[in-house]
Amino acid sequence: MLIGVGLGPGSPDLLTLRAVEVLKSSDKVYVPGRMAEELVKPYAHAEILDFPMLTDYDVLNEVWKKNAELLADEALKGNVAFGLIGDPNFFSTFTHLKRVMKKYYPDVETMTVPGISSITSFASRTGSEVDSSFEVSDGSEKKYAIRLKARSPQEIAKELSEEGYTDFIFAERLFSENENIIKGIENFPEKGNYFSIVYASKK
Ligand SMILES: C[S@@+](CC[C@H](N)C(=O)[O-])C[C@H]1O[C@@H](n2cnc3c(N)ncnc32)[C@H](O)[C@@H]1O
Repeated sequence: MLIGVGLGPGSPDLLTLRAVEVLKSSDKVYVPGRMAEELVKPYAHAEILDFPMLTDYDVLNEVWKKNAELLADEALKGNVAFGLIGDPNFFSTFTHLKRVMKKYYPDVETMTVPGISSITSFASRTGSEVDSSFEVSDGSEKKYAIRLKARSPQEIAKELSEEGYTDFIFAERLFSENENIIKGIENFPEKGNYFSIVYASKK
């Protein structure tokens, strides 16, 4: 079986008990990069599988196919854990891996262990909250926006302010030693790290 394991937002003590159990008991553990490798380290040895950040879907499909091929044999014989930042079903490499695996290796079973997503956990570090609709709606007025991959925080905040948002927080590398939280659009840097979020709200 291939198990997508959520590793939480960036600190090794923010993994769930189940995630730790699965990492410890799996025959093999893989991760897509260094940050995930560090999060897994207290619990298991992980091998890094290369998932380059490309926009060319043809090339990407080839990479996903190659990685699926690499994992399929092991996942048919035993349990293979694939550790991912945050939750494995929210903006995650695991979604693509699962899709390609199903297509080429339909006998490989897959499951996921949920993780604490950056989409919710940023709130505890930035002192913010979401209690009205954003993308998941309860029918109330839309008052919050969250942008992932906030490499251009100033630009994103400008766009969102044109949509009526008034308050902004930029949160970078949360829960890590290099964490950086900036409040107020006027203090936003022009460039952000890949692991960053812009949170916007309006009254
Ligand atoms: C490919 S998505 C992965 C999302 C992940 N599956 C989740 O549930 O959080 C990568 C984006 O998640 C956000 N992210 C993940 N961890 C973060 C952290 N520790 N600090 C700030 N943003 C983070 C960033 O916006 C980053 O560009």
